[in-house]
Amino acid sequence: MTTPLAAHHAAHQARRQIWRDVTLFDGRHTSTERMAVVVDGDRIAQVCQESAIDTDAFADAIERGRGGVLTPGLIDCHTHLVYGGNRAHEFEMRLEGATYEAIARAGGGIMSTVRATRQADEDTLFATAAKRLAALMADGATTVEIKSGYGLTLADELKLLRVMRRLGRHYPVHIVTTLLGAHALPPEYAGRSDDYIRLVCNEMIPAAAQEGLADAVDVFCEKIAFSVAQCEQVWEAAAAHQLAVKGHVEQLSNLRGAVAAARHRALSADHLEYLAAEDAPALQAAGTVAVLLPGAFYCLGETQLPPIAALRAAGVAMAVATDANPGTSPIVMPTLMLNLACTQYRLTPREALAGMTAHAARALGLADRGHVTPGAVADLCWWDVETPAELAYAVQPGRLRQRIFEGKITHEQA
Ligand code: NIG
Ligand code: FE
Repeated sequence: MTTPLAAHHAAHQARRQIWRDVTLFDGRHTSTERMAVVVDGDRIAQVCQESAIDTDAFADAIERGRGGVLTPGLIDCHTHLVYGGNRAHEFEMRLEGATYEAIARAGGGIMSTVRATRQADEDTLFATAAKRLAALMADGATTVEIKSGYGLTLADELKLLRVMRRLGRHYPVHIVTTLLGAHALPPEYAGRSDDYIRLVCNEMIPAAAQEGLADAVDVFCEKIAFSVAQCEQVWEAAAAHQLAVKGHVEQLSNLRGAVAAARHRALSADHLEYLAAEDAPALQAAGTVAVLLPGAFYCLGETQLPPIAALRAAGVAMAVATDANPGTSPIVMPTLMLNLACTQYRLTPREALAGMTAHAARALGLADRGHVTPGAVADLCWWDVETPAELAYAVQPGRLRQRIFEGKITHEQA
């Protein structure tokens, strides 16, 4: 007869799962030994060498996999996944010579997506974003950050944030939401950008904070968007509501938005193609992560490279993300970003993988995700490759054998 306590113990034990004889990329480094990883409930319980595994102690654990490569679940720390319509026609215009900036100045670009997004209802936005989210998840994403910024009215920005929260409730993925009210100046505020910034600071941020809809606040600091001084007002309003801050900075020109973001203790400074090498140490000193978005660089045919060597030399944590959005990076494939980070930006495969795991977690302020260490959330990917570098080397969907979210296998290859 089992006592209630013993039954409880058995149920607890039964939850333990083990992946054996794997090459482990723990979020920063690749193991030199074959490793075993034990998951208990939704957490990593133990990480040890395969040769040191105590088979008696783990006799009760369910073996889920053997061999291959185990990594943290991928973290896509910069996306704009929720929007209406698409911009295939602008893609064609750019192929004929129009620039991203010229299209934006003529009322296209972000504003064309804003028009489509304002017209779309929440169910439509949810359904279209769900397809893109499914693609990210099928390629290994277990955490996805999503920015608003295609509504640009109080009601439409909150609508986008609500859709994101709903995605997080419906799918086995951790969603981090970011209010990007200061993405572009809507036409109804033409010539009155300071008034629009006041709307962002005095209405959007307080409402998003009060309703618990935003985890962070982002801005687009650029000549075609907002000045450094305006972005700083937004960051101050965010801080006043205990929201973390981020910035799209130095994407198309150098306004020194990254240094300003670092002054405001931003979690991350994103894009950075035009960052001056001498500004890299400021990011390191503030603990601000450099989020690299090679998909936008690639899709725009950009030639200006971010100062990778300077970032590396300064010891700035570099994250890598898809920037999935309808304009500059209509790509929902995290592993392609590993490849582009290496081929376009010359990151090493190890740096690229850290960029979509441990460093991406830092860019979102998440302490217990992005690394495979005891106590961390058990978000894992088990891959059908022999070395982690292969994930960056080959662009090849279908290598994800299992995707584990909070201790549950949510995807299993046939
Ligand atoms: O990250 N730079 C601004 N925001 C997006 C592009 C948005 C768009 O073109 O729709 C980006 O590249
Ligand atoms: Fe972006």
